[in-house]
Amino acid sequence: MTELTTVIHDASEIVVGPGTDAPLERHENAALAVADGRVAAIGPTEEITDGYPVENATHAIDADGRSVIPGFVDSHTHGLFAGDRSDEFAAKLGGENYQDILAEGGGILRTVRAVREASDAELRSNLLGHLDTMLAHGTTTVEVKSGYGLDTETELRMLDVIRQADEQHPIDVVPTFMGAHAVPEEQDAETYTDRVIDDQLPAVANQGIAEFCDVFCEEDVFSVEQSRRVLEAGVEHGLTSKVHAEEFVRLGGAQLAADLDAASADHLLHANEDDRVALAEAGVTPVLLPGTAFSLGAEYADARAFLDEGGSIAVATDFNPNCHSQSMGFAIALACVGMEMTPAEALLAGTQGGARALDRSGEAGMLREGMPADVAIVDAPSYVHVPYNFGVNSVEMVLTDGEPVSGMEESHE
Ligand code: NIG
Ligand code: FE
Repeated sequence: MTELTTVIHDASEIVVGPGTDAPLERHENAALAVADGRVAAIGPTEEITDGYPVENATHAIDADGRSVIPGFVDSHTHGLFAGDRSDEFAAKLGGENYQDILAEGGGILRTVRAVREASDAELRSNLLGHLDTMLAHGTTTVEVKSGYGLDTETELRMLDVIRQADEQHPIDVVPTFMGAHAVPEEQDAETYTDRVIDDQLPAVANQGIAEFCDVFCEEDVFSVEQSRRVLEAGVEHGLTSKVHAEEFVRLGGAQLAADLDAASADHLLHANEDDRVALAEAGVTPVLLPGTAFSLGAEYADARAFLDEGGSIAVATDFNPNCHSQSMGFAIALACVGMEMTPAEALLAGTQGGARALDRSGEAGMLREGMPADVAIVDAPSYVHVPYNFGVNSVEMVLTDGEPVSGMEESHE
């Protein structure tokens, strides 16, 4: 016997995912029924409420002319950290640049010091607080990277906190190991690369939490060869590759991602046509992070050129102490205004595209029969209001696995 958990009815539209004749498939004047946490049916309100009477549902939600969309999939964050780098935001506006701050022991290295000093309880409480904010803004799946430990003990501690947060919070949290996020002070990149491969990766694999392995492939951080060594070792330990590629200069991280069949190549501000073709041919999802370009005052990635390659792309927040926004709605607005994506393309990139970047195509980012009922209800008649109403949270209510977990009271129980 399946259990009818939830019926959301009288939505102005339900956005289900990529369409065949339009970029987005939508049902107008629609309802959605959830059984056992998964989408059981979507269709016209009358039809659905005939088949799935609201009085039989544990939660009956009157969407009352609002838009219902898949929960956002935020496929790139460094959301677990400690300390406060707001002064660097001000310094950057005053003309300092990100890489110089890092070279002077600030930036990532400053967060590393704060994380090493923080207790597990403090780290957990920081992450859970950010997850609450993300959830209230419509995110139902989020990737969180380690990488502010840069030693075996703290990297394992970060991954364990990420696992605990996944267990405690309604958001589905996807753990990525990123020991190669920066070179710790007083070490050189080559020696530290060996530490990541010989010490950290075996311990991370043994711990059994991380799904992905990511590297900051960048000038003055990790070379293409060092990045390759880390990612290949990760694959040997069962971790799928991700690459921070071509963020500040074009170094070759995108080609590396293509070579290694990575799940994603991320940032890509300086990627060229060869990189775009290589990623598309290898089926690697480009993850574009317009919030990072916005907060650095840098030029945005060329989203239109990536879209022209025909594959799906992802848009994510890159939430971290340098790019301090948990809001997928804001990232989607920047994707539209800064990267000239249409609202439909940007919404897809923040849902189905993100799911692809996390190897979760069949489990997140769409509202189709059999998929988990991870849903955001927008306080407006159309999903276009997500980017149109920029700077404001347009998400009113969120459900994960069909259970209301954030937002407005139910119409009746
Ligand atoms: O994706 N570029 C490298 N890593 C992060 C920034 C992390 C930080 O500055 O703390 C990013 O933007
Ligand atoms: Fe990043």
